[in-house]
Amino acid sequence: MSILILHTSNASRRKHLATARRYAHRHGERLLLVVQNPTWEREYADRVVAADTSDIGQTVRAVRDLATIETEPIRAVAAFVEHSVPAAAAVAAELGLPFVSEKTAYAARDKHAMRSAFARRGIPQPRFGLARTLAEARGVARRVGYPLVLKPVIGGGSMYVRRVDDDAELAEHFETIRRKSWASFDYDPLCRRAMRRHDESLMLEAYVAGGEVSVESIVIGGETHVLAVHDKPLPMHGPYFEEVFYATPSALPPAAVARIAEITAQAHRALDITMGATHTEFRIAPGEEPMILETAARLGGGPVYRSVLLSTGVDMVEAVLDLALSRPPRLRPTQRTAVGFYLFFAERAGTVTAVHGVEEAAADARVHEVDVYRRVGDQVDVPPHVWQAHGHVIFSAPDRDGLDEVYARLVKTVRIDVD
Ligand SMILES: Nc1ncnc2c1ncn2[C@@H]1O[C@H](COP(=O)(O)OP(=O)(O)O)[C@@H](O)[C@H]1O
Ligand SMILES: [Mg+2]
Repeated sequence: MSILILHTSNASRRKHLATARRYAHRHGERLLLVVQNPTWEREYADRVVAADTSDIGQTVRAVRDLATIETEPIRAVAAFVEHSVPAAAAVAAELGLPFVSEKTAYAARDKHAMRSAFARRGIPQPRFGLARTLAEARGVARRVGYPLVLKPVIGGGSMYVRRVDDDAELAEHFETIRRKSWASFDYDPLCRRAMRRHDESLMLEAYVAGGEVSVESIVIGGETHVLAVHDKPLPMHGPYFEEVFYATPSALPPAAVARIAEITAQAHRALDITMGATHTEFRIAPGEEPMILETAARLGGGPVYRSVLLSTGVDMVEAVLDLALSRPPRLRPTQRTAVGFYLFFAERAGTVTAVHGVEEAAADARVHEVDVYRRVGDQVDVPPHVWQAHGHVIFSAPDRDGLDEVYARLVKTVRIDVD
């Protein structure tokens, strides 16, 4: 029988596909991959179908055709990339296979739909509103208060999420960010639907001060199992919020971590995420109630998978595949290692002329993986115009504090030169 992975080409997901191939072969399953413009991905699958998984209709048709030529039945559907989740939900519904519903896949992407679902459950979160015009934005600002955050309704990677502190800044940034928000995410499978539904509005939210964490969970039959909490130890005050350093386990007090796990489970129930991996983000000020930012019905991006694996011994890709095949996943941690990762960008936009420090970083015994997604000659941009870093380094340390020191060294070592 076969496992079907719906995928969007993404240099940071090589390890996910490698695990999926090993897993499939170990269990005597074929691995089928649907991805647009497949290149290096081909080596990981028994059959690759070229289709754009950000086009839900095209993907469903491609899978129907695939099912007619495959001799073995498709038994499971999985996706490791945000943009393939809605198509995976549609395909699973068509084939009668376990996955989150299409409604859930939508609610986990539309930031207004998500906040509205959280609000109905009384889940702690910032005040929020939608605005189509500057006059409407001023009205929302009066209600939520400054500072506030402007953000795309359908977004990702903090792209075009911006803090504004007063009426003058709102007037300066509102219209530009509103337009760029919709234009930059038009490749997202749900962008057009959200655009119509919200008349091309922009989200506004009260700015939550405090530290930020991300929570990686597996949901089985509606029950949430939190596997890891990563701190984002660098202050993120804005105006833009690029993420460069993650560290796990969290340095937060156990009671705060327990409360975060509780709210994560409530958020899953609010969106009806009953199975699979999730990635949930919070802001928390010392001594205050954690405020949820968002939850996604998929694994955390890029290095999060390996970071959880190295830190806890739990393999979230295997867990996702187990759930897709209706097997009980192995979720018990076998270790507790301090692990961090550094996401690096270029200093400015341009053409990559050199990547420095990769070998030096890799020679450090504490470094587990250095991955550069770009090559010399590639065009790169900088936040807030990009949704993904240009590479990552995953590292460990004897304890959580030790991660800061490794990070500080890596920042000086790994550099992208642009012209
Ligand atoms: N209400 C808020 N208060 C403070 N910071 C925020 C708020 N909303 C978003 N941010 C910052 O912007 C980042 C990206 O926002 P998020 O809602 O997670 O969108 P996405 O990750 O899809 O781009 C967050 O990780 C956080 O640092
Ligand atoms: Mg986010």
